[in-house]
Amino acid sequence: MARATTTHAHSPTRRRAHGARAAVPGRGAPCHNGQVTRASLDKQPHEVASMFDDVAEKYDLTNDVLSLGQTRLWRKAVAAAVDARPAQKILDLAAGTATSSQPFAQAGAYVVPCDFSLGMLRVGKQRHPWMPFTAGDGMKLPFKDDTFDAVTISFGLRNIQDTDRALRELYRVTKPGGRVVICEFSHPTWAPLRTVYTEYLMRALPPVARKVSSNPDAYVYLAESIRAWPTQPELAARLKGAGWRKVAWRNLTGGIVALHRGVK
Ligand SMILES: C[S@@+](CC[C@H](N)C(=O)[O-])C[C@H]1O[C@@H](n2cnc3c(N)ncnc32)[C@H](O)[C@@H]1O
Repeated sequence: MARATTTHAHSPTRRRAHGARAAVPGRGAPCHNGQVTRASLDKQPHEVASMFDDVAEKYDLTNDVLSLGQTRLWRKAVAAAVDARPAQKILDLAAGTATSSQPFAQAGAYVVPCDFSLGMLRVGKQRHPWMPFTAGDGMKLPFKDDTFDAVTISFGLRNIQDTDRALRELYRVTKPGGRVVICEFSHPTWAPLRTVYTEYLMRALPPVARKVSSNPDAYVYLAESIRAWPTQPELAARLKGAGWRKVAWRNLTGGIVALHRGVK
């Protein structure tokens, strides 16, 4: 298994993420003091990495506040779906600070938190020095075919520029018979909840984010990207298109979040 910790000076991801930051920002990405602060919906990878670098320190706290405490419930549901067992190899893609990886480690599995934001990886490494943090891009994973018993991604797939490519990469690195679990914001199925939630995303979230986050623009991007994300059946179809079998999903908090599952 390839491993590149955050301190590896020759990590290709380090070159890509930091080299790219000096490049001209993508369409619609405002710049302050020469730094890209908000990803546009066409999700240029260097903008996304830079955005997460900026929010890394306060990322977990902000999440808890903005999700009104729901994050913990969603993480429990992911842990149950992944059902990690001792000595199994689990990939947590887009793991950020590895908060999403903890339940698998606690279950005794060997979990690899992988992300392309070196800022997030650094904060994660400070908090969990013993974990094998790996710098890697979800569209070109630094792992061999058929490596993991299970692959999972929480609140990350929406941020990856090419969703289908990431789903195929996850498939490639999973062992035959292995499983995928995707936890992502989705679309409430009950119309009144959908209306209230959309109001929350577009009106309430940005002012709250301005108070608690180091980069409120990241939360405007969050709201916009959630609205543009495929519905539950559409995402399921894309999983099947990438090769996954037995695809199913379960709505959490009325569909604000959906857990998609599949088997290789
Ligand atoms: C919202 S955070 C989720 C972090 C963590 N999984 C959690 O549940 O708290 C999304 C993460 O996706 C990462 N990400 C986005 N695009 C990526 C890509 N192409 N490859 C790897 N990581 C990516 C970002 O750097 C960020 O850390």
